[in-house]
Amino acid sequence: MSRVYNFSAGPAVLPEEVLQEAADEMLDYRGCGMSVMEMSHRSKVYDDIIKEAEADLRDLMNIPDNYKVLFLQGGASQQFAAVPMNLMKNKKAGYIITGQWAKKAAAEAKKYGEVVELASSADKTFTYIPDCSDLPITDDMDYVYICENNTIYGTKYKTLPNTKGVDLVADVSSCFLSEPIDVSKYAVVYGGVQKNVGPAGVVIVIIREDLIRDDVMPFTPTMLKYKTQADKDSLYNTPPCYNIYICGKVFKWLKKMGGLTEIQKRNEEKAKILYDFLDQSKMFKGTVEAKDRSLMNVPFVIGDKELEAKFVKEAEENGLVNLKGHRTVGGMRASIYNAMPKAGVEKLVEFMKKFEAEN
Ligand SMILES: Cc1ncc(COP(=O)(O)O)c(C=O)c1O
Repeated sequence: MSRVYNFSAGPAVLPEEVLQEAADEMLDYRGCGMSVMEMSHRSKVYDDIIKEAEADLRDLMNIPDNYKVLFLQGGASQQFAAVPMNLMKNKKAGYIITGQWAKKAAAEAKKYGEVVELASSADKTFTYIPDCSDLPITDDMDYVYICENNTIYGTKYKTLPNTKGVDLVADVSSCFLSEPIDVSKYAVVYGGVQKNVGPAGVVIVIIREDLIRDDVMPFTPTMLKYKTQADKDSLYNTPPCYNIYICGKVFKWLKKMGGLTEIQKRNEEKAKILYDFLDQSKMFKGTVEAKDRSLMNVPFVIGDKELEAKFVKEAEENGLVNLKGHRTVGGMRASIYNAMPKAGVEKLVEFMKKFEAEN
C-alpha cells in the first residue's frame, strides 16, 4: 500500500484509521452479515448508526438542545436555495461576498427575494475578509449570510460579523469541525462534509428550531423544506446511509483525540509550519492578508506559470498531490484539513525548500 499526501480542497483526505475501520467492516458490519451499504435505512442497526452519529456531533460541537441536526443530500450548493426558501419571510437578506461560494449563494438567493450586498472583498480578488463591525444591516432582513472559510481564496472570518441582532447563516463547508464554535451565535450552520468530515454526498445542517416552519415559500420542494427533514430525523426518504456512517466514524476519531480544542491546536501547529515558511521564502508567496488566513486552505504563488507547473508536477512525483490552485486563481493551494497529518505538511515544506534552492 502506498498512500500519498493529498492536499485536495475536496473531496479530501480522510483519517486513515477511519478508512481502515470501514474496510474491516465492509463485508460484515459487526456481525449482521452485510455491509452498511446494503442495509435498510429503517433497520434497527442503521437507526443506531445515525442516532449515534448525531449524538457524537452534538457532543463534539456542544450543540444546544434547541437546534436540530439534519443529514441531507444535495451538497452545500443545494443549501444556497434551501436557506432563502425556508428563511426569507420578509423576502430580504444581507450577503457578505468573500468569494465564489458566497457569490453563488447570493445569486441563488436573488431568485427568491431581495439580496443586499453588505460588504465584499472582490476589489482585491477576495484576499481578505472585509470589516464587518458596522454593516448596513436593517431589521427587515431575514438573515445575514456568510461563507465562513473561503476554500478557493484561503480566507477565514476570525470574528463573526456584527449582525445587529439579525440571524446569522454560515456555510462552514471548509472549516467544519476544525475548531470549536459557539453554535448559539448562529441561526443556521451548514456544510458539505467532503472536506473535513466524510465522503461527498452529505450536507449537515444545524438549525435553530424556531426557524423550522411550515410557512416556507409555497413552491419549496418537499425535500428542501427543513420541516420535512426535521420531523423525520433526516429519514424522510433514503439518506446517504454509508456516507453518514463514515461521518460518524470521523466524529468518533475527533472525540478520541480530545475533540475540537485539540484538533484546533493541531491545525494551528500545521498551518504555522506552512505560513512561517511562506513568510520567509524568496520564491513562494502566500496570497492572503495575514490576519485573515485560513487554517484549512493555504493558497500561494511563485508568480511564474512555468515554474508553478513544474512545482506541481515534481511535488506529485514526490507523493504530494493535488497542489494546483483553483482554476480561477491559478498558483498553488495546499488544503490541510483535519485529517492531513503534520508529517504531510512538514514533507511539503521540505520539498518547497529544496525546490527553491534548486530553481
Ligand atoms: C465553502 C464552500 N461552499 C460550498 C461548496 C459547494 O459544495 P458542494 O459541492 O457540496 O455543493 C464548496 C465546495 O467546494 C465550498 O468550498
